Amino acid sequence: MTKILIVNASKRKKGNSYALEQRFKEGMEGKADVTVFRLGEKDVRVCLACDGCKRRNVPNCVQKDDFTALIPEIDTCDAMLILAPVHWDQFPAQLKAFLDRTYSFMDFTQPDFSMAGRKDKKLAGYFFAGFGPVDVYTQMVETNLKSFATAGFRDYKAHVAGGVNVPGSIMEKPDDLKAADEVMEWLLA
Ligand SMILES: Cc1cc2nc3c(=O)[nH]c(=O)nc-3n(C[C@H](O)[C@H](O)[C@H](O)COP(=O)(O)O)c2cc1C
Repeated sequence: MTKILIVNASKRKKGNSYALEQRFKEGMEGKADVTVFRLGEKDVRVCLACDGCKRRNVPNCVQKDDFTALIPEIDTCDAMLILAPVHWDQFPAQLKAFLDRTYSFMDFTQPDFSMAGRKDKKLAGYFFAGFGPVDVYTQMVETNLKSFATAGFRDYKAHVAGGVNVPGSIMEKPDDLKAADEVMEWLLA
């Protein structure tokens, strides 16, 4: 069964990321083996840039927190789905810390700079913005998703739902919900 890792990077428990986390989980039931990692409830610290991970031949981080145990999950999943708000036109801080920690997959001796066990994984970023501009935010998300290639995610899709400042208001946006269903189909295919 397809193994999917959902990373929810919101702190708002009644917010949009949580609403779609529920929708994705229901939609994937029986079709995928789903693991949810709620960043807002976890201890994922910033990268120390110590290069300790560069002294090993497998993805590993010398900093022991909730990211360390997740490394094998990231490495062995078929696909990862990130659900997150836009904060100040950017990735929210805790998601940026999560991205930085994937530096533990970087291997400068490899032509593709990656020591990921699998390099064929899919990555979807579904983001929520109170306002917009959605086109600019989509570019920002795509630029950041590219950096996950080091962790073996080479195929990616981004969607940004704008105008959803009210917690849970994504559920009243039929076009964005349709886009979520398309993302789900793509992840499961
Ligand atoms: C610190 C902070 C910064 C924000 N910055 C932006 C922004 O730059 N642009 C925008 O459109 N919305 C911004 N928002 C609004 C959120 O993106 C929006 O409410 C989103 O739906 C939250 O998603 P969630 O409910 O999943 O947490 C910001 C919210 C917070 C708390």
